[in-house]
Amino acid sequence: MYDLIVIGSGPGGYIAAVRAGQLGMKVACIEKYQTYGGTCLNVGCIPSKALLESSDKFEQTHELLSIHGVNVSDVKLDLNKMMERKYGVVKQLTDGIKYLFKKYKVDGITGFGSIVDKTHVKVTADDGSEQVLETKKILIATGSKPASIPGVVIDKDRIVDSTGALTFPEVPKHLIVIGAGVIGLELGSVWRRLGSKVTVLEYMPKILGNSDGEIAKEAKKLFGKQGIEFQLDVKVTGASVKGKTATVTYEDKAGASHAIEADRVLLCVGRKPYTAGLGLENIGLETDKRGFIHIDKNFETSIKGIYAIGDAIAGPMLAHKAEDEGMAVAEVLAGKHGHVNYGVIPGVIYTHPEVANVGATEESLKDQGRAYKVGKFSFMGNGRAKAVFAGDGFVKILADKETDRILGAHIIGPAAGDLIHEICVAMEFGASAQDLALTCHAHPTYSEAVREAALACGDGAIHA
Ligand code: FAD
Ligand code: NAI
Repeated sequence: MYDLIVIGSGPGGYIAAVRAGQLGMKVACIEKYQTYGGTCLNVGCIPSKALLESSDKFEQTHELLSIHGVNVSDVKLDLNKMMERKYGVVKQLTDGIKYLFKKYKVDGITGFGSIVDKTHVKVTADDGSEQVLETKKILIATGSKPASIPGVVIDKDRIVDSTGALTFPEVPKHLIVIGAGVIGLELGSVWRRLGSKVTVLEYMPKILGNSDGEIAKEAKKLFGKQGIEFQLDVKVTGASVKGKTATVTYEDKAGASHAIEADRVLLCVGRKPYTAGLGLENIGLETDKRGFIHIDKNFETSIKGIYAIGDAIAGPMLAHKAEDEGMAVAEVLAGKHGHVNYGVIPGVIYTHPEVANVGATEESLKDQGRAYKVGKFSFMGNGRAKAVFAGDGFVKILADKETDRILGAHIIGPAAGDLIHEICVAMEFGASAQDLALTCHAHPTYSEAVREAALACGDGAIHA
């Protein structure tokens, strides 16, 4: 008899299993694939970041080093080698989970998990053999799958989802990306850097969905300058393949129809929770219209003893959000006080420059009718950024007009994904913009731009 069976070994599931093991529970983690780590480690965060790094190196060497007086001639791309490196990185990290399971006495079980009743989970292995395990509690951490749109069918060759776009056999001549969200911009950047013409078709009038409007505008300008072509406010109506050519049809705002051709198409219009075949009906657990499982503040579903976390529940579909929930639910189950502060979950887009955010956007504050002030500072005024030719972008801090408490922050620029965490910590401690502004920041660092933005919430930045 297990104390806890976790279904799914993504960043939500494996962290929950490890933490529960550390806290003395007898735990099993069931994973339908041969490797642990879920979307994030196998076909998400990690392989995409591996390719972003490699493609950045290629572009830097190919095009940008000469401004430093470093002349490299005859730069060649070995895509197979680049992919091999990516597989190596993924393998190291997925093997790392095996090690953690062993260390913390988690039984990792390969097979498809389905809930038989509140205390039993059936595991079906690839060869069809079945076993039924008994448990006191069940944690659903089954994650998400790519969403689709009518008229566009993934053929895993010419028309792919993010998984396919991580393994193209050659650099596409022309890549059409449907959806100007996080995946579209990250993977669009990878292939553009390697030589593809990239056209992004987006339904909304702006890129990056609900991000702060000013940041989205700057991002579009900078990615446009790099060569990504954007068609905003368009509705994709279909995609078809003939030989090696895919044709995507779409309507513009005025209702006029268009068709464009490419050798590869990436569909990335969001993700949806994955609970197919999980046996929710056997325990009477319903999902909402969009497929999400509802939970209470302790991550328990409407069925006692059944818990859920990660992409399968509402909230940003991010690995670190799933991880925090995994840790928190394990602590709750061990009688401790697991907690996730949903107001301070950073988001990072690992493009060049990086884009990072935490907390409220200016638009959301306007919607709430909240009085706020804005402190902004351009990386053009930051010595370190100037020295490394990384002056594009800015830091924007939003603070309460009366109390000066930081409500949100948005950064587009060098190391944005690291800089944002200073502001996260400040927000966790309920800091004011002045608290940040009064903190000594080493010179010359990018973080001085954060301090200057905080100063700009008060009497003004120095280098503006
Ligand atoms: P998942 O990681 O999806 O894991 C769920 C696991 O459950 C899977 O392994 C699945 O096989 C298994 N499973 C499902 N059903 C069953 C069953 N019945 N039986 C057994 N096993 C089952 N997020 C970030 O924060 N940063 C990033 O840089 C980032 N990059 C991304 C890049 C891409 C291309 C993609 C697609 C996503 C990216 N994400 C990123 C999002 C991130 O991957 C997800 O938010 C995260 O993986 C969700 O974790 P999870 O544990 O809820 O689910
Ligand atoms: P997304 O939600 O970020 O973006 C999808 C985009 O597609 C939106 O801009 C949307 O308006 C657009 N769209 C929807 N329907 C459309 C249509 N019919 N035609 C044209 N455009 C349409 O989703 P994405 O990029 O697929 O990523 C999925 C999830 O994975 C995200 O929730 C994200 O959080 C996560 N992720 C996170 C990363 C990170 O943290 N760095 C990296 C990659 C993914």
